[in-house]
Amino acid sequence: MSASNELPVFISAGDILTDLVRTGDSSWLSRPGGAGWNVARAVARLGLPTASAGSLGVDWFSDELWDASVAAGLDMRFMQRVSRPPLLAIVHETHPPTYFFMGDNGADLAFDPAHLPAGWMEHAKWAHFGCISLVRQPLGETLATLAADLRARGVKISFDPNYRNLMEHGYEPTLRRMAALADLIKVSDEDLRMLFKGLSEADALTRIHEMNPAATVLLTRGSDTATLIVGDERFEARPPRVEVADTVGAGDASIGGLLYSLMAAPQRGWPEHLAFALAAGAAACRHSGAHSPSLDEVVALLSA
Ligand SMILES: Nc1ncnc2c1ncn2[C@@H]1O[C@H](COP(=O)(O)OP(=O)(O)O)[C@@H](O)[C@H]1O
Ligand SMILES: [Mg+2]
Repeated sequence: MSASNELPVFISAGDILTDLVRTGDSSWLSRPGGAGWNVARAVARLGLPTASAGSLGVDWFSDELWDASVAAGLDMRFMQRVSRPPLLAIVHETHPPTYFFMGDNGADLAFDPAHLPAGWMEHAKWAHFGCISLVRQPLGETLATLAADLRARGVKISFDPNYRNLMEHGYEPTLRRMAALADLIKVSDEDLRMLFKGLSEADALTRIHEMNPAATVLLTRGSDTATLIVGDERFEARPPRVEVADTVGAGDASIGGLLYSLMAAPQRGWPEHLAFALAAGAAACRHSGAHSPSLDEVVALLSA
């Protein structure tokens, strides 16, 4: 089998969209994005065969996402296209970010795992799920079912809820279901505040951990100390200090970094995996937008 036919070891499923950010009175900037798509780009950039699995439209925004996916080296056999409207995140205020989503009957909802390349599940080591795709039906159900199928075949499951306003009501069953399927759960301090309103951070973290005590949990807190829970063990570490351009996609780079470390260097201990994840997150902050750091950028921060 030639290298170009090689199937990915990592698949991030869903959460591919265009951010449309207001830059002035009536001016807007479009940026390919989506948390799931950023995680895929992070792992691909670090150097593993990766796919972002989902469905795009046939419009200009979807072409932009397609081209950026090709440029990121993602396996395009996992990107489907259908003649339906694109999914857009309209960020109409930036301080603080205020947004809504447009995508009624969107192209993303048409994603069909039955059309993925033969044998892909056997080849995959890890698959990642999260963010708004899980609450956009029927896609959410498709993805949760896919996660269960993959898990049953021995593929490890990563889950980052990535709180968005669409999860304000009725998200708990999805959170429980995905947490129960996950081998790895990533949350930020802000996710915990929004998912468990009124609970202290410690109590919220305990709730997540109790949903699946066998899952590894990564809690990030921006530039502050992060916590990794593995069974009864807890590891804590501070991200490297960097000059921050912006923190867009920092969490996606950190979970991407952790997944890369687990797949590419399984011999490492948990403190090393954690340090790698935090360096990847910090490296993403040095450039504006959801920058996917290279392996060299991450390693340079690790040894700084
Ligand atoms: N200001 C910062 N300086 C250095 N690293 C940062 C900073 N903000 C985020 N990071 C890195 O990105 C990781 C995830 O950031 P965080 O803001 O907690 O997640 P999310 O993007 O999901 O909200 C942090 O653990 C850290 O490694
Ligand atoms: Mg996040």
